[in-house]
Amino acid sequence: MLTQPDGYTPEYVAIGQGILDDLGRELALRGVEPAAAFLIGDESVDAHYGDRVTSALEEAGWRVWRRTVPAGEESKSVAAAEQLWQWLLRCRAERSDLIVALGGGVVGDLAGFVAATWGRGIAWAQVATTLLAQVDSSIGGKVAVDLPGGKNMVGAFHDPVLSLLDTLTLQTLAQRDLASGWVEAIKHGLIRDAAYLAELERAPFDLRDPEMLELAVRNSVRIKSEVVVNDPFDRGLRAVLNYGHTVGHAIETLGQYRRHRHGEAVAIGMAAAGYISTKLTGLGNDELERQNALLKACGIELAASGFAATEVVTAMQADKKSAGGRPRWVLLEELGTASAGHSVDDTLVREALAAIGI
Ligand SMILES: NC(=O)c1ccc[n+]([C@@H]2O[C@H](COP(=O)([O-])OP(=O)(O)OC[C@H]3O[C@@H](n4cnc5c(N)ncnc54)[C@H](O)[C@@H]3O)[C@@H](O)[C@H]2O)c1
Ligand SMILES: [Zn+2]
Repeated sequence: MLTQPDGYTPEYVAIGQGILDDLGRELALRGVEPAAAFLIGDESVDAHYGDRVTSALEEAGWRVWRRTVPAGEESKSVAAAEQLWQWLLRCRAERSDLIVALGGGVVGDLAGFVAATWGRGIAWAQVATTLLAQVDSSIGGKVAVDLPGGKNMVGAFHDPVLSLLDTLTLQTLAQRDLASGWVEAIKHGLIRDAAYLAELERAPFDLRDPEMLELAVRNSVRIKSEVVVNDPFDRGLRAVLNYGHTVGHAIETLGQYRRHRHGEAVAIGMAAAGYISTKLTGLGNDELERQNALLKACGIELAASGFAATEVVTAMQADKKSAGGRPRWVLLEELGTASAGHSVDDTLVREALAAIGI
C-alpha cells in the first residue's frame, strides 16, 4: 500500500478513483448552481466518457449541450475556438452558464480559452482524462490556443471552478500517452520532493497501477500548486517547472511535434539537464542515474538521434523562455531541489547533448 499525501490541494481540485459520476455533486459542493452546461469533449474521449458525464450533470439538474472537436493538437486553434464561440451564440449561452471540458490538455486549453473569452469570461470546469492533464495542465489556470507559427501564443489565465481528476479514466489511455504523463509526474518529484520520488522508486514501477497513478496525481497536484500559488501569473518562480524543457522544447519543435510526445521530449531534456547539473550544481552521478532509471522504467528512450547539435542549440536560443537568445536552464542541486535561471556555456551544453546521443 502506497502512502498518499495530505498536503495542500487547491479547493477547485477533486481527485479520486471513479469520481466521474460525482461531477454534479462536486460542482454543488463548490457552490456552482445548475444552469446550462456546454460540454466540449474530444471525439475519442467523448465516445468513452461523454454519456457518463452528461448523465452526472443532468442528474444534478444541469441542461446539457454537447459538442465534440477532433482529437489532437490541431483542435487548439483560433478557428476551433471561433466555431465554439458561434455555437455558444446560437445556443444563447449566458454568463451564469458553465463550460465543461472533457479530455486531455488539448481540450482543457481550448475549452478553457473559450471560457476565458466568451462574454469576457464565464465559469468552466474540466474533467481531465490524460495523465498529463491530471498532473500538469489542470493546475495553474493557463489556457491557450496555438497560432500556425507559435504554440500557446494566444491565451489567458482563467482558473476552472472545478478540475475533476478521476484516475480510473486513465486506464483507457494509450501506453505512449500514459508514459508521457508519467514524465511530468516524475519531474515534480525531481524538482521538489525527494520523499515522493523515493516512494516511486520503492514500488515496482507499473505505469497502470491505480494506486501508483493516484499517488502520482495527488503529489503532482500538491507540488505544482505549491509552486504556482507563489507565482500565479508566471513571472519567475514557476520556472522550476520547466526542468528538462529547454532541450525538450527544442527537440519537440525540430520534430514538428510528431516525432516525440511532450513527455518523451522532456525526459530526454531532463537527461541533458541532469548531466549539466552534475557538472555545475552538485547533483551526484548516482542521483543522475536514479533519475534516468525512473524515466527508463516508463519505457522511454533517453537518447535522441537524428538531430544535429547545432540545430538543437539554435532552436533552444529561439525558445520564448530564453533571455536575450541565451537559454535559462533549470538545474538540480540534489534530487528534490531545483534552481532556475542558470546560464550554461556552449561547450558544456554540447557535452550534455553528446551524452544524450545528439
Ligand atoms: N495549460 C497548461 O498549463 C498546460 C500544461 C501542459 C500541457 N498543456 C497542453 O496540453 C496539451 C497536451 O495534452 P495531452 O497530452 O493531454 O494531449 P491530448 O489532449 O491531445 O490527449 C492525448 C490523446 O489521448 C486521448 N485521450 C485522452 N484521454 C483519454 C482517455 N481517458 N482514454 C483514451 N484516450 C484518451 C485523446 O483523444 C488524444 O488522442 C498540449 O497542447 C499542451 O500545450 C497545457
Ligand atoms: Zn511540460
